[in-house]
Parts: sequence; structure tokens; C-alpha cells
Amino acid sequence: MPAHDILIIGAGLAGQRAALAAARKGATVAIMSKVHPVRSHSVAAAGGINAAISPADDWRSHAYDTVKGSDFLGDQDAIEIMCREAPDEVLHLEHIGVTFHRNEKGEMDLRAFGGASMKRTAYVADITGQALLHVLYEQLMKHHEVIDRYEEWFVTSLVLDDAGSCIGAVARNIRDGHMETFSAKNVILASGGAGQCFKPTTNALICTGDGIAQAYRAGAPLMDMEMIQYHPTTLVENGFLITEGARGEGAHLLNASGERFMEKYAPNKMELASRDVVSRAEQTEINEGRGVGPDGVGIYLDITVVPKKRTLEALREIVNIGKDFAGVDITREPIMIRPGMHYIMGGVKTDVDGATSIPGLYAAGEVACVSVHGGNRLGANSLLDTLIFGRRAGEHAADRATSMAMPQAGTGAQRHDEQLLGEILARPKTGRRISEIKDELGTTMNRYVAVYREEEGLRTAHETVRRLKDEAQTAYVDDKGTIFNQDVLGAVELDYMLDCAEAIVVAAIERKESRGAQFRVDYPGRNDAEWLKHIDISRDGDDTPAVSYSPVTITQWQPEERKY
Ligand code: FUM
Repeated sequence: MPAHDILIIGAGLAGQRAALAAARKGATVAIMSKVHPVRSHSVAAAGGINAAISPADDWRSHAYDTVKGSDFLGDQDAIEIMCREAPDEVLHLEHIGVTFHRNEKGEMDLRAFGGASMKRTAYVADITGQALLHVLYEQLMKHHEVIDRYEEWFVTSLVLDDAGSCIGAVARNIRDGHMETFSAKNVILASGGAGQCFKPTTNALICTGDGIAQAYRAGAPLMDMEMIQYHPTTLVENGFLITEGARGEGAHLLNASGERFMEKYAPNKMELASRDVVSRAEQTEINEGRGVGPDGVGIYLDITVVPKKRTLEALREIVNIGKDFAGVDITREPIMIRPGMHYIMGGVKTDVDGATSIPGLYAAGEVACVSVHGGNRLGANSLLDTLIFGRRAGEHAADRATSMAMPQAGTGAQRHDEQLLGEILARPKTGRRISEIKDELGTTMNRYVAVYREEEGLRTAHETVRRLKDEAQTAYVDDKGTIFNQDVLGAVELDYMLDCAEAIVVAAIERKESRGAQFRVDYPGRNDAEWLKHIDISRDGDDTPAVSYSPVTITQWQPEERKY
């Protein structure tokens, strides 16, 4: 049976950074991913990474902007750590080979991004996540003697010992269908978010909330799950991301009258207000009949105001996306966008070292909730979050591993999961298709748990999720084989998504106020007296989410009205 000091599940930026940090501390590491690591969803964070690098900047300003962006729900101790450690982390990336954009003086260039009080986003054109991921992957290969890579392995469950500590995981090799149990002194979840609970979404097909659901099922609380970010600029046709870097470079948002409507909503920051504010403004324009396009469901993003040379150099990926997926040359005409599901601020509750409530189980990146994003994440803080807390989790887990004997995970969980997959494969064609249930889930969430929410819609969403959970028990798969059987794994992913969706909806019903990304039409104001607290969701018994609360950590910034 494979055994490692640390098993990392997920090989995007958080996982790779954790692996590198742990290996540098002398731990033996396994990094496992259901896709090839450079296809991880971290590639989607296009526009850049925030750090107070400029001599005119200060990490405290970055921290304040982040706290304000979070609508004061972020934990300020964690935010301080992230922002203080950011410049060194970005320089580390440069030293290992990331070719950040440089200005004419040869200094690292910084671009403007939403909710930031000055330019502090380092970038590689509009492929920053991809550039980082490739460079980190080179580092993993360099450390091949201590880092074992399990690429295209799918985790079906975590393994806990009798004392409740996490001591490994069960996984299926996607290439041939065989399953194995992995023992580990520590497991780090780095498997990303749950965007596929929504349709459309900017998230890759792999973002099915696996780690969130695995931790939840193992007994770890989830936190801030109601906080779902709608990115202001996603393609109307298919939800593809058009990077915030476009607005950072100066692009305008226009309604059907050609008005730069952000003047009404955020007169100072305009298009570069925080994402929750911009998305809400766009949705208001659309709802009030000032949207563009045949059904009036879009808004124009006008990038033609950016000099063409600069667009071709700094926004080249969205030039291609515009052409290939919307048939629009963004250097010549506006492109139609709308708010689209992009990110989950919530996740598995951790401390600032990535530790969850379960000994031996860590989480970092979008799967985790530290909480540095609170009610709303600032653009370009996600890459930073993955790296800072990925590294810290890797280091902490490596330290913990030094004082432990290697546990032996039994094979009970593997037998259970093999039987479960066998049962899924044996289902008759009397139920619904997995894809049908997934579609209904996504469209329901996007209808009722979006930019604007209210009690009745949220309750409808909850009832739908409960029904879909039942239907998922009999959903059938066509592929009965063992080699690359994505069909059967799709059934497991569907169950993960349904658990995540239920936690999201239950938390959204619970929070009876408007804060950050949660705007309740029936409770339109922020209510610090009653709701300046985190909502934690734990599994109660077999399958019901239980709600509790935890305090928000405030170090130096008292809540105030947010204005942009
Ligand atoms: O718009 C973007 O480039 C996305 C970045 C992010 O979500 O941090």
C-alpha cells in the first residue's frame, strides 16, 4: 500500500505549492489529481496576482482593501498574513522562472484591478494562472525523488482512524479503473471549488466540489458557503471568463443607451469597484430593461478604448476567446457580457496554517475557507490565496509529520467504495441521466442562488436539491467499462456537487441580511448587529446540514459602510 508523509489531493496551484513547501522541509509527498496537473482550474485566474510590491504601496493597504472587499466578513488575522507575505511569494515565483510582465524601466509591471486602491496586480499578459502553474510543475518534476505524482487518479473518500484523525484516502486510477488505499500522516485537500453546481459558470468541468464534500462527509465544518461570487464579465453565450484585466486596462461597461452606468453605482472606482458591486449594478441594469442584445440580458464591455497595441500584448487570450467563442474582434467592437458564477468564497473551515477541525486533514486554495475573502473576493487575490496558504499548509503538515509514525489505513473504505461504484454501474436504465440531473441543478442554482436572492426562491432551490439528491441515487450510467470511465465518476461527482449545493443554499437561507455577494432582496441592508459572523455548516447525522456560527476576527479595521 502506498504511504507518504503527506498526500495532497489536487494539483493546481495550492496543491503544487504545498507539495513544494513540504518537499523542501524533507517530507515525502504524493500529489494526486483527477486531471493532468497543468490542466487544473488555476489556469483560469487570468488577470494576475496581488502583492504590495510597489515602493509606493504597503501590505496594510492591500489588507484594508481586502477587508473592505470582503464586506468585513473576512478574518483579519488571516488577511494580514496573506497580504504581508504576498511580496515575497511573488518574488519567489519570479526567481523560479515566472516571466512576469515588465515595464519600460525593466521593473515588474503592475496593473489595476477591482477594489484595489492602487495598481498592485502582477501579471503575465492574461494567462497568469497558466504561467504560474507550468513553472511550479517544473519544480515538482525537479523534486521527483521526494514527490510522487499520481496523475489522473480520482479520490472517492478520505480515510479516518478510530480516533477521528485523517490517515489517508481511497482513489481510483482513471486510466484502468483499479482502486487503492493510500496511507498518509497528513492529507491536504487542494482540489478547488464547486463552480459546476451552477450553470453557466466560468469554472472548468472538474470543479465539482469533491474536496468540500469529502471533508464535510468526514465531519469537518464548512464556512461562508453562501458567498458565491458572480464575476462581472462572462460571455453571454456560454459563461466563459473575460478577464477583469480588461477593465484593469481601462475597458468600459455600457448599457443599451451607451451609458457608462457604473457612474451611478460606484462613482469613484467605476468599473473597478469590487466584483459584487459591479455584478449587482449590471444585473440591475439588465433587470430594469437597460440590457443589450436580442433579449436584453447582456451588457457591453468596450475594450476598443484600450490602445490596440496594448490589447494585443496584454489581453491576447481574450482577443482569441472573443473571436473563437463570440465571433467578436474585441479590438474593434464591444463584446456582450453578463455576471456569471465564478468562485466560492466559502469552503472547508481552516486556521491560518490550513488545518481543519480533523487532525491530519488540511485544506488550501478554493476548497478551503480561511477566511480571507469573506463575503466577496477581490480579483487577483485567489492566486495569492492558493500560494500563501498552500505553502503554509505544506510546511505545517511537514512539521507535524516529523513527530509521527506512519499510520496504516485499513481497506474497509476501499471495499465500501468499490461496492458503491459497482452498484452505480449496475443500475438499470429506469432512472434519470447524470447529465440531466446536473443540468437541472446548475440552472436551478443560477436562477435562485445568484446575484439577487430571496427566501422563496432559496427554498425552491433547497427543495429541488433535495429531490435531485433522491434522483441521483438511481441515476444510471452508459459506460460500464474500466478504462477512463468518466461516466461512473460523474455519478460520484454529482453526489459531491449536491452536498455542496445544499450547504450553499442552507447558508444562504440562514443569512438574513445582504453582505458581499449575498444580496437578499427581502433583507436589503447589511446588519452587523446580528450577522457580523460566519455561518458554519456541518453534517448532522446522515445527510442533513446543521447550522452554527463562529466569530469574525477583527484586528484593526472596524466595519464601516462600503463605498467605491
Ligand atoms: O478576471 C480574472 O482574471 C480572474 C481573476 C480572479 O478571479 O482572480
